[in-house]
Amino acid sequence: MRILTGIQPSGTLHIGNYFGAIKPAVELQQRGDAFYFIADYHSMTSLTDPAARRKNTLGVALDFLACGLDPQRSIFWRQSDIPEVCELAWLIGTLTPMGLLERAHSYKDKLAKGIAPNFGLVAYPVLMAADILLYDSNLVPVGRDQKQHLEITRDIAVKFNQAYGETFVIPEPEIREDAATVPGLDGQKMSKSYGNTIDIFGDEKAARKKIMGIVMDSRTPQEPKPDAGQNLAIQLLRLVAPADVARDFEERLRAGGLGYGDLKKALFEHYWNFFAGARARRAELAANLDYVNQVLADGARRARAVAAQVLTRARKACGIE
Ligand code: ADP
Ligand code: TRP
Repeated sequence: MRILTGIQPSGTLHIGNYFGAIKPAVELQQRGDAFYFIADYHSMTSLTDPAARRKNTLGVALDFLACGLDPQRSIFWRQSDIPEVCELAWLIGTLTPMGLLERAHSYKDKLAKGIAPNFGLVAYPVLMAADILLYDSNLVPVGRDQKQHLEITRDIAVKFNQAYGETFVIPEPEIREDAATVPGLDGQKMSKSYGNTIDIFGDEKAARKKIMGIVMDSRTPQEPKPDAGQNLAIQLLRLVAPADVARDFEERLRAGGLGYGDLKKALFEHYWNFFAGARARRAELAANLDYVNQVLADGARRARAVAAQVLTRARKACGIE
């Protein structure tokens, strides 16, 4: 089974991204052939600073490798290293109804925000469909927000197969419903657009300050807190501390006698330790960029071997060549 997913290099990764996307992707490596790429072409629809794109792309590569993406087991590459994907996007784009693209939530959300639409924004799902179809992908793990893009991909593949004969594998989405939505520092969903994130690999001082700055209520430490289970620091602690430790803190908070300052201090320590191994690996990788570039080059070579076959199949089917 071929499992494929793309990660946009649109910013610094936070612990919501870790528990919602990176960890599940790393675990999925056990279930099939993982094809993971950094979607730098897609990032062009929201980011127009070349230096930032370069920095984020390298950052995503370091983050994923540090968090357990295994280049022996999986194929990991930069989307733009396989420009065939743009050609395939054209082939399938000519069969994609405008209505399908105009109804895409992500597109409508951008319009609603007042962003002036351009071709790239409308065509975003077509390029994503090309990403998926170019590698004969069977399973595509994504967050809920990408579900409709998968439906569009399946529609396009079926249309192409009907028009030109069996060409593409019809992919199945795997929506990560069970991955917890990690709350941010203000209790809303953690998201870079809300400025409420804790970075996976942030600076120690800054992270400590952010966590110690979480706003709690004004009850005294002694007061019992029957709502301890909903406490933001407890929710985050459950992710980064052993289960019995998190339970113990929750009980102490419920019973009264545990101050919020001590709770936040414990949260910071557990968060910092949780990522200690990955942080050390990331520092090693950052000091050895030749290795990282080698991994991406090797991934591109292996991905391209598949892409070339599928593109030839698609070109032949539609009478180009
Ligand atoms: P952001 O909301 O910070 O812009 P993205 O939309 O780039 O994050 O998300 C990248 C991936 O991380 C997606 O697969 C998404 O489902 C996952 N993700 C983002 N935020 C969270 C969160 N707070 N909890 C769980 N998963 C998340
Ligand atoms: N659009 C996806 C996101 O923002 C990233 C992506 C690009 C992707 N191409 C893909 C995901 C192909 C899965 C398959 O998260």
